[in-house]
Parts: sequence; structure tokens; C-alpha cells
Amino acid sequence: MDIGIDLGTANVLIAMGNKGVVLDEPSVVAFNKKTNEVIAVGNDAYRMIGRTPDHITVVRPLSDGVISDHKMTEEMITAFIEKVTGKQLFMPNIVMCIPSSVTDVESRAVVEAAKIAGARQVYLIEEPVAAILGAGVDISAPDGNMVVDIGGGTTDAAIISLNGVVAKLSMKIAGEKLDKSIVKYVSARYRLLIGEKTAENAKIAAANVYSPDGSRKIVVKGRHLVRGLPEQIELTDYDIYEAIIDQVREIINGTKTVFEKTPPELVGDIYKNGIYLTGGGALLFGLDRLMAAEIGVKCCIADDPLSCVARGTRLAFKRLDKLLDGFEHVSMYK
Ligand SMILES: Nc1ncnc2c1ncn2[C@@H]1O[C@H](COP(=O)(O)OP(=O)(O)OP(=O)(O)O)[C@@H](O)[C@H]1O
Ligand SMILES: [Mg+2]
Repeated sequence: MDIGIDLGTANVLIAMGNKGVVLDEPSVVAFNKKTNEVIAVGNDAYRMIGRTPDHITVVRPLSDGVISDHKMTEEMITAFIEKVTGKQLFMPNIVMCIPSSVTDVESRAVVEAAKIAGARQVYLIEEPVAAILGAGVDISAPDGNMVVDIGGGTTDAAIISLNGVVAKLSMKIAGEKLDKSIVKYVSARYRLLIGEKTAENAKIAAANVYSPDGSRKIVVKGRHLVRGLPEQIELTDYDIYEAIIDQVREIINGTKTVFEKTPPELVGDIYKNGIYLTGGGALLFGLDRLMAAEIGVKCCIADDPLSCVARGTRLAFKRLDKLLDGFEHVSMYK
């Protein structure tokens, strides 16, 4: 009954034994400031974003890929673990993936929360290693493979060979930043203030970062900044392109720099094997084609990119002893 957890900025996924992914909910907590109580986590809390009275706050405790709120992070992990284990006392082992930008001190807090929630042993795994395992790649051979995991808060690009990370780069540009850029663009261009959830929907429905042609579009609603009244407009893929392309190029340029830190034999392997795209950002329409064109290497979107990391954490149980720097046994928590 081992449990793999992908503690992401945007989503938390839990994979279990032979059942696969058993929980997939947004990393959101709703909190009552008057009573100091958590009133909802995950899907229930997500529905409250931007729609709460004064005494309730809805937080993303891991925004921007760092733990911005320890207490809420712990509450969230505990609630999710209890949800899948049903509070019984069977003490699972947990392999957990936390964003790479999280510091050691913060990791410690997360591990402690998992222990309090009933874990027997907690292991940590680096996100790119979990992502590439989940993409179904054999990383034990002396053969270089590259993964670019684009999540909500961070993008991780890494080259992996012989179970270890050879070169990597973690960037704080990912899905959330793209949403914010869309909010900014729409308010500057159309004088319409939209929420971040609306911006995210627009990105998913109408982005085309490779060849925008006006065919993908979406109607968005918000408040007109001058008139102050509700209004709706249509956004096309040209709009979304203009709003986010600079940041998308930053992600691609960051990915390119990883090659500079990689020995030439392995760079040659990547030319042959291509680049695997994982995380929700891998689904950004046209990104695979743009990246392939810019880098000159084929890019393939992994199957079900949003669950790669969670599936990878579960696969990692079979190789607890084999992974090198991608897998750290946190023995001090025994
Ligand atoms: N079809 C899509 N097109 C573009 N972006 C998408 C699509 N589907 C999901 N996303 C984005 O993917 C992001 C979430 O991805 P994911 O669940 O992999 O992040 P995470 O693992 O929680 O974050 P991190 O790894 O940074 O901690 C969100 O920003 C979401 O908007
Ligand atoms: Mg992730």
C-alpha cells in the first residue's frame, strides 16, 4: 500500500499501489479567518476562488513553486492523505515529489506533515526524474534522455542518464505566469479586468504559440475598467499569442542552456531520442512544434502529461536503491 504524491503548485496527485492515480485535485485551501479553521481543500476550495466573503480566504499554499504558507501546505497534505487512506492505521511508505525550488527547510516541513498524517517512511524525488519515469522512459541505461516539465509554478528541464540527473535548470516561469500575462494583456488592450481562472481557461481554449491564425477563440467576461460594468469580449489565438509568447520563448531559451552544461555524447543522444514534454504546460497548443523548430530536436508530449510525475513517483518505489541524485532517502526522519 505504498503511496506516491506529486505535490505540485497547481495540482496535487496521489498514485497508490496497483490502483494508479486515485486523487487529482487543485492545490488550494479555503480558510475561515474568524474561526481559524480550514473549511475546504482541493476541488471544493478551487470553486471558491474569487468568490468568497471577507472572512474566508482561499490560498494556493505553494504559489510560484515555493511554499508560501507552511500551515496551509501541511493542512492540505494531511487532508489529501486522509482522503485516500481513509484514516485507518496502516502506515504507508510515501514517495513524494516537491517543486525543485523548495528549500531544504521547507522540504523538511512537508516531510513532517506527511509523517504526522501517518507515513511510515517518506522519500523525496526530484520532479524531472519522476516526470521522465512517468513518461515511460528507461533511465537506467547509459543513454541520455531529456525532459521538460512545465507545471503551474516551475518549469524543469533536465538531462538524465544512468538513473541520475546530468544537467538541469529550474525556471520560475510556467502556467501561472502565462495566466497573469493574459490578465495584464486583456486589461491593457481591451480595458477589461478578468480573473486568473478565466485567463487560464482562455489559455487552454485559445492558445496557439506556433501558428496563430484566428481560428481558436473564446469569449471571456469581466469588469470594464472605465465603465465599471460587466462586459464580455472575444479573444483569439492572436491575442493569447501576443500575451504569452515572450515567456514561452524564455522557457525555450532556458531549455537550450541545459545543453551547454551537458557532455557532448549525451547531447548526441538527445538528438536521437528527442525531448519529452510533461506537466500541464506540455499541452499548451503548438508548444511541441515551436520547441522542435527552435531547438532542432523532435519534441513529444508524454501520454497524459499532467499525471506523469505522480505515475513516476509510484514507479520509483521499485528503484529506491537505484536512483542516484534524483532520489534522496530522508533518513533523519526515521
Ligand atoms: N491544455 C492546456 N494548455 C495549456 N496549459 C495547460 C493545459 N492544461 C493544463 N495547463 C496548465 O498546466 C498547469 C498545471 O500543470 P501541472 O499540474 O503539471 O502543475 P504542477 O505540477 O501542479 O506545478 P509545479 O510542477 O510547477 O509544481 C496549469 O498552469 C494549467 O493552466
Ligand atoms: Mg509538477
